[in-house]
Amino acid sequence: MLASNICTVLACGMGFPLIAPSILSADFADISKALGMVESAGADMIHLDVMDGQFVPPITFGSKMVSDIKARTSLELDVHLMTMTPERHAEEFIAAGADWLTFHLEACVHSHRLAQKIREAGAKTGISIVPSTPVSCLRPLLPFIDLVLVMTVDPGYSGQALLAFCLDKVQDLVKIRREEGLGFLVAVDGGVGLQTIGEIGRRTPDILVVGSAFFRAESPADFVTALKSFGSSGSDR
Ligand code: DX5
Ligand code: ZN
Repeated sequence: MLASNICTVLACGMGFPLIAPSILSADFADISKALGMVESAGADMIHLDVMDGQFVPPITFGSKMVSDIKARTSLELDVHLMTMTPERHAEEFIAAGADWLTFHLEACVHSHRLAQKIREAGAKTGISIVPSTPVSCLRPLLPFIDLVLVMTVDPGYSGQALLAFCLDKVQDLVKIRREEGLGFLVAVDGGVGLQTIGEIGRRTPDILVVGSAFFRAESPADFVTALKSFGSSGSDR
């Protein structure tokens, strides 16, 4: 039986995989243009990469950017916190408009507590793992979360090459979900594009985060259509 998050998505009529362009690759000085591109391309959600200069070297933006974007789009906001001690900022980002709030397992000691706190505050809880973290570290938390964001690059930058060894985690998570009747979605973040969608799509992730390849595309709408058609060719859903 399909679990609750998936039913919600299907009820909205959105086809898998959902496409979540990351504005990390957009012009921050012209964010309205980037939002227009994402919406007119038929993408499903907007991925916002928050970096603190500690968990990852770069610093991007804080909750004000999230609330400013929230006021300009009806798409769901998928906020990816690449920050140390994410528990210090979770409520602030949810208040700013994060529909999905994802933090890193590696950056938080009390992950179960934070996962619950995010749900209680009214957002969907996501947990991300860097390439060197195995799925087994996350397994006890899977009943308590709505999304697993599998990093397929070392986080911090757009435009990096996909680390193919991370993709087995996607199929492992899909298998665990089916066997245990759980409801979390599985997202892939890093190195997604037309060159890699074949090997990614075979693992049947639910969400594709795409940064540089989306903003470089000659036709973002055709690009989204192409990703969706490749991505749904897997047999596990
Ligand atoms: C990287 C970020 C990604 C990034 C992906 O740490 O989490 O969301 O924007 O960019 P691409 O798709 O260019 O790898
Ligand atoms: Zn991201």
